[in-house]
Amino acid sequence: MKTTLLVARPHLSSDDLAIAADLLKGGHLVAIPTETVYGLAADLFQPEAVKKIFYLKGRPPDNPLIAHISAIHQLERLVQNPSPLLLRLAERFWPGPLTLVFERRSEVPGIVSAQLPTIAVRMPSHPCARQIIEAVGSPLAAPSANLSGRPSPTSAQDVLDDFEGRLSVIIDGGECSFGIESTVIGLIDERCVLLRPGAIPRQAIEEVLCTTLLDPPKNGPVLSPGMKYRHYAPKARVYLVDNQDDLKVSKGSTYLPDDLNAQNLYSHLRKADRLGYLEIVIVLNSQIRSDEALMNRLTRASCG
Ligand code: TXA
Ligand code: MG
Repeated sequence: MKTTLLVARPHLSSDDLAIAADLLKGGHLVAIPTETVYGLAADLFQPEAVKKIFYLKGRPPDNPLIAHISAIHQLERLVQNPSPLLLRLAERFWPGPLTLVFERRSEVPGIVSAQLPTIAVRMPSHPCARQIIEAVGSPLAAPSANLSGRPSPTSAQDVLDDFEGRLSVIIDGGECSFGIESTVIGLIDERCVLLRPGAIPRQAIEEVLCTTLLDPPKNGPVLSPGMKYRHYAPKARVYLVDNQDDLKVSKGSTYLPDDLNAQNLYSHLRKADRLGYLEIVIVLNSQIRSDEALMNRLTRASCG
């Protein structure tokens, strides 16, 4: 299969939009840009198409997907008894990089949310993602467009590196502006829980709720299955150190990212792999330490 890149800056031409929408309506997968990371999209209401996402990524079937919508009325097809707390967050942060976990309607194919009684939903702000969802006329199920376990893709080239020849169309919307995944919020007994730190900081959400966010309980069932997997890992080994003096750098084989932040983390990890480095060493300065989402991804990409 030949992989074609269709360029969207920031919108797709009407011809290219028709190509992408027809593929999705026909039950095929298309990689699309979002403001966080690229997504591997399928029509959410076609279980056979959604199945292809798991197969192509090598994703464990117990790791649920996020539904992407372009207008608030599409929420009605997906969720029931929406909590007023979650709706308040939607009103403040959508469109944007916030994912909310609602009670799932039985009409939503179980494969999308790994048979959980819930469904994670977000409304992306990226103009091209919105244009495509609109044209398909159905919510899109989309995880990050990387092979399972690899760093998330923040450019069309990253998607191509993982899926060239296995995907017919990748929409090239340039670099993702956030570069890190959405924040995921769920509910326990009508209290909001931070299931995955991400592009929207904890404090911004707490300000809207006027209360603190809970952390997922340490015991009991895993509320966000994606968080239990080692993840976001490049081929090179990632080491986190406290200061430069701790470094035992073997020159030539160690990649030292400069100006590391949440926005450029994944592109640094992928760049190190492209250049063939064997290890990546990250010096944890106070700026990195204070970024919860960045620290979460670093810890999960590293070997200690
Ligand atoms: O920014 C993003 O969220 C990107 C773009 C493409 O939208 N998507 C993304 O999807 O990061 P993915 O599949 O890589 O991560 C989805 C996360 C996983 O940690 C998964 O466990 C969690 O969301 N999740 C999905 N549905 C859930 C549910 N019903 N309950 C709890 N967690 C859920
Ligand atoms: Mg992912």
